Formats: sequence, structure tokens, C-alpha cells
Amino acid sequence: MSKLIIEGARRLKGEINIQGAKNSILPILAASLVTRAECVIHNCPIISDVKNTLKILEHLGCVVKFQENTVIVNSENITKNSIPNVLMREMRSSIIFLGALISSVGSAEISLPGGCELGPRPIDMHIEGLRQLGLRIDESHGILECGNEDGLEGCNISLSFPSVGATENLIIASVKARGTTVINNIAKEPEIMDLIAFLNSSGAKIESQGEGTLVIEGVKALHGTEYTIIPDRIAAVTYMSAAAVTVGDLLLKNVVKEHIGAVIPVFEEAGCTIESDTENSLRIIAPTRPYFNRIVRTMPYPGFPTDAQAPVMAMSCLADGTSVFVENIFTNRYKHVGELLRFGADIKVEGRVAIVEGVKRLFGAEVTAMDLRGAAALVVAGLGAEGTTKISGLSHIDRGYENLENNLESVGASIKRV
Ligand code: UD1
Repeated sequence: MSKLIIEGARRLKGEINIQGAKNSILPILAASLVTRAECVIHNCPIISDVKNTLKILEHLGCVVKFQENTVIVNSENITKNSIPNVLMREMRSSIIFLGALISSVGSAEISLPGGCELGPRPIDMHIEGLRQLGLRIDESHGILECGNEDGLEGCNISLSFPSVGATENLIIASVKARGTTVINNIAKEPEIMDLIAFLNSSGAKIESQGEGTLVIEGVKALHGTEYTIIPDRIAAVTYMSAAAVTVGDLLLKNVVKEHIGAVIPVFEEAGCTIESDTENSLRIIAPTRPYFNRIVRTMPYPGFPTDAQAPVMAMSCLADGTSVFVENIFTNRYKHVGELLRFGADIKVEGRVAIVEGVKRLFGAEVTAMDLRGAAALVVAGLGAEGTTKISGLSHIDRGYENLENNLESVGASIKRV
């Protein structure tokens, strides 16, 4: 079993290029099915979630080429409408193939998805919206069998919560539905806007109408396109957290500052200087000791992202002050807390609330990553801790971070995989 070995408390200084966004590329790859043509997608991160998604596309009959960070998907000859359980269970986002297969070939047979365990992650909003579009969905023993011989019919859908996945699934499902579909209370994450831009560049007609409403005019067919994915805002926040615990000075290239608008003030209040001279880069200069004395509430975008909660919490453990985290999106997103305690952190959890009393020093520990962003938190803690940290459970890191060790090593960290 491989482990990351970190010798902590070394100052990080230098430049890191931020990868393409994991949460953009996954729905966009699924949506490429709907084009039934060749799509060339740039800035694709090389991570295991992408590799698994490409396996699903190949299984369905697509021809896939991966050259450095460009992926080419040709979906002209789709031969199947079903995805085996073993591929579906690799990640939660595979549910997006439901809308994509319906839109592409008119039917789908898939099992319920896997992914990070962040408490119960139902798909009721996906199912309800797809049924409103006229999709027949039969479920038995965890297998969803779906279809509609006459195609989907545009309608008016209101989501009870701005779910990222449900918004994406419904957008992809309705691009070729007859007539007009209106989706209210959509999630507004940058990755959703990226999916919309990709689909529109393939010939879809999707428009924002006021706050949180999308109007989709169904089109008969989409066409191939060439598209570049946005940068990964959570990878950027992870490296910012790493800088903050190491008295670091990092220049992060390929960052869209607006996408982390709710996070930047948190770092500034902690005493970090954030500079952004050029359009797509951000420099973070950390103080000798960060000060963290605030409440962080995770919220749908543009609020503080739930995916940034774990790495920022790791940073707050080594800061002066007391901070409170309120996790409003997922019910079970504090699995990293038990592991952070092993470094000597002082954290108490009560339901959705975690209270962190900053400590003067963290000490290297043997820990296990249990989910993707929790894994990032352990790396941040290891970089800030004195002595040796050993992290296992690396498959979680590999799901979402491209070149994490190399990037950190290139700016002065002592980190290696054994
Ligand atoms: C996506 C992101 C994930 C991020 C999350 C919230 C991807 C691949 N993953 O996950 O990194 O943490 O958004 O920003 O983009 N819910 C329901 N019923 C549904 C759908 C969702 O109750 O039908 C609940 C979920 O259980 C959760 C909340 O809504 O409590 C948010 O989920 P959602 O926004 O759908 O997140 P994901 O799309 O799973």
C-alpha cells in the first residue's frame, strides 16, 4: 500500500500551475456523449476520476484519446446504453451518465453511483426532474432502467435545493428535449457555467434568465467542439492552505479569482497577503503565524465551498484563535477531524459544527485519508507539522489532485510517495 511521507515545517516558496477543474471535466466528458461527434477538450486534469470516466465512455463505444492534458472523445458510434456496476461505483458523479445517455441514445441502464462517503447522498432531485421531463424510470435492486420511446418533453422544473449534480443532469438531459425547459433554483457553481458554455459551444441553446433560472430551448442535434476547462478552484484553495501553514509564498498560476471570492477574505483575515497583478494568477504570502477567529459556513456557490472546508480547517488548526465551521451541505464531512487530532490539533465536533482551537505546534503523525478533500487536509497538516507524517489512503488524493507531490516538492516541500 503506498503512502505519502512528508517531513513538515518547511517553507513553501515558488510557483504552481493550477490544474483543470475536476468538477467541470467530469460532467463535460459525460455531456460529450450527446454531441455524437468529436470533442477536443483542453486543460483536462490527469486524475483517476477522469480515467474512470474515460473507461465508461470507451465501454459505451466512444473512441477516446488522451494526449498530455487534452482529451479527444469521439461519440459517433455509441454501441451500448448500460454501464456496469463496477464502473458506476468508482465515483458519485457517474450518475451524470443517466442524463447524458438519455439525451444521446434515448435509454439507459445504470446502477446507483459510488464516490466519497459524505453522508447519505440521495439522487431524488435528479430522478424527480427527469421524470418531469417525461422519462420512465424503473428501479429494482439498485439498478435504474430508464427510457422514453417518444423522447423527452420540455417542462418547468423547480429544484428544492440547488444541487450541483441534479442541475447538471437536468441540463444535459434537456438540451435535446422537445420545446422549452425551464429549471429554477439551479446551482450556480462555476463548473455548471463551464458545462453550459461547453454545451452551447456544441450547438445547445441554454440561457440564464435572472437569478437561478435557466431556459433551455431543445435542439435537434449537437455538433463537435473544441473547449478549454476552467481551473480547479479547490486545488487552488488547497495550495493556499499549504502556503498558510508553512509561512509560504506561492504564486498560483491559472486561477480565476472570482471563483474563490468567498475564500480569499478568509485567508486575508488570517493575515495572508493576497496579490493578483496578472489576470490569471494569485500570489499568497503567509504571515509568520496565521490568525483565525471566525465562523466558516459552507454554502452553495457563491458561498464558502464545502470542498474547501477540510483543507482550510487544517490551516486553522495551526493558527492563533478559535474558529467555528458549520457544514451545511453534507451531513458527514468531518471524517478528517479524527485524523487531524493525531497531529495534536484541538477540534470538537457537534453535529454539523466543528470548533477548532488553534495550537502552537502540530506534530507529524500516521494518518489515513478517508475522502478526497479530507486527504488534502491531511497533506496540509503534514506540511505544517514538525517531524514525519505518513499518509495512507492515497487513492482518495489521486481521484482529484494532479501531480500533488511534484507540485509541492517543486516549491520546497519534502514529500514523497513510497
Ligand atoms: C458536487 C461536487 C462535490 C461538491 C458538491 C457540493 C462534483 C463531481 N461533485 O457533488 O465536489 O462537494 O457538489 O458543492 O461536481 N442532494 C439530495 N438529493 C439529490 C441531490 C443532492 O438530497 O437528488 C443533497 C446531497 O445529499 C447533499 C446536497 O444535496 O447533501 C448537495 O449535493 P449536490 O450539490 O448534488 O452535490 P454533488 O453533485 O453530489
